[in-house]
Amino acid sequence: MKAVVNATLVTCAGHARPRVGPEMRELFIVPDGALLIDNGRIVDVNYRAEIESRATEIIDAGGCCILPGLVDAHAHPVFGDNRVDEFEMRSEGATYEEVAAKGGGIRSTVAKTRAATEEELTASANEHLQWMLRCGTTTLEAKSGYGLSLAEEAKMLRVMKNIGPQQVVPTFLGAHALPPGANNDQYLKSILDEMLPAVVEAGLAAYCDVFCEPGYFSLDDSRKILSRAKELGLGLRIHADQLTNSGGAKLAAELGAQTADHLEQSDEDGIKALAKAGVQPVLLPGSVYALGKAKYPLARKMIDEGLAVVLATDFNPGTSPCPSLPMVMSLACTQTKMTPAEAIIACTINAAHSLNRGQQIGSLEPGKRADFVIFDTKDYREIAYYFGLEHAREVYIGGERVYGR
Ligand code: NIG
Ligand code: FE
Repeated sequence: MKAVVNATLVTCAGHARPRVGPEMRELFIVPDGALLIDNGRIVDVNYRAEIESRATEIIDAGGCCILPGLVDAHAHPVFGDNRVDEFEMRSEGATYEEVAAKGGGIRSTVAKTRAATEEELTASANEHLQWMLRCGTTTLEAKSGYGLSLAEEAKMLRVMKNIGPQQVVPTFLGAHALPPGANNDQYLKSILDEMLPAVVEAGLAAYCDVFCEPGYFSLDDSRKILSRAKELGLGLRIHADQLTNSGGAKLAAELGAQTADHLEQSDEDGIKALAKAGVQPVLLPGSVYALGKAKYPLARKMIDEGLAVVLATDFNPGTSPCPSLPMVMSLACTQTKMTPAEAIIACTINAAHSLNRGQQIGSLEPGKRADFVIFDTKDYREIAYYFGLEHAREVYIGGERVYGR
C-alpha cells in the first residue's frame, strides 16, 4: 500500500450529494494528514501517524496542499487547428457575434475539424488534455459539436474514447450551430431521427447538450432535441442564456436537466426556476473574460438561492481558450465574488456530482478513486490568489502519478 504523507489535505468530504449554501465553504481540512492508497483507491484519510506504519511505499508531499483531482464539467477539447486570427480581430474591437457573422465563429472550427483526420484530432486533443493535466484536471466532460453531421460528430465522439490520461465524459452537441448550407428544419429532423438514435445506439455519449440561443437553436427546437435525448436515455446539459436572456435556464428547469451552463444573462426568475428544479448551474467565467465582456453570471445570488454551483473552463477555440481550472477559480473569486473555498468545491465535488460521478470522485474519502493533486502551496487560498501560473506539482489518477515537475 502506498501512503502520501506530510500534506495539508483539503478533503472536500462529508456529503453524499452536491453542496449548497454555506456547505460550499466547508473543505474539511486535515492538517499534517496522509492518504493511504491501495489498488487505485483511497483506503484511509487520516493523520500521518495513523497511516505511515501501514504503507510499503511513502510519498512525501513536502507540506503542500493536496486536493481531490479537479473535475472540468464543461469543455470542448476536440477541435481542428485554432482561432487565433479571431482573437486578434477581437483585440482590435470586433465582437464574437460580428466575427461569426463574417464567417468565423463555430463554423470556422467546423471546417477545420472536418478537414482533420481522426488521428490528427486525437493528437491535438491529447495535447489539450496535457495542458489541463498540468493545471490539475483529472476528469473532464467533452462535447462534440464541431462536426455537425452524423459521420463527423461520431468521429469527434470516437476521439474522446481514445484520449487521456484523464477520464473523459462524452456529450453529444450536434445542436451547436447549423452546418453550412443547411436548412433549420432539415437539420433538426436529422438530429432527432438520425443522429441522436445512432449516437445512443453506438454508446458514444452520456449526455446531450444544445446551444440554445437566438440565431443558433430556438427554445422550441432545443426543447424537441433535449426531450428526444431524454427519451433515449441521455442526461441533459444546455448552453443557456449565454448571449441573451432567452429562456434557456427555464427550459433546463422544465426538462429536469442535470446542468444549465453559462447563465451570464439569466435573471432572478431563471435562477429561482433552477433552484426549484434542482438543476446545477455550470458557470464559465473564462468565456466572459476571453470575450472581453463584463457581465459575469450571478454566482452569489445562485449560492444564496441554494444552487449547487459548478465552475468549469468551457475550454474551446472560440470563447475560452483556457484549460486551467485554477484560472477559472481566480476569475470566480475576483469577478463573481465566490470565496476561494466555494471555488474549490465548485471545481471538485459539485462538478463530480454534475457528471453523476459524485460517489466515485470529487473528494478525498475512503472508497473513492485515488485522483488527487499536490499543489505547490501551503494555503489552499493561494491557488486562486496567485493567478497565471501552474500550481500543480504532481497529479495522480487512480493512484498512479501521471504528471510531475
Ligand atoms: O460554450 N456557446 C457555444 N459554444 C461555445 C463556443 C464555441 C465556439 O465559439 O467555438 C461556448 O462558449
Ligand atoms: Fe461551451
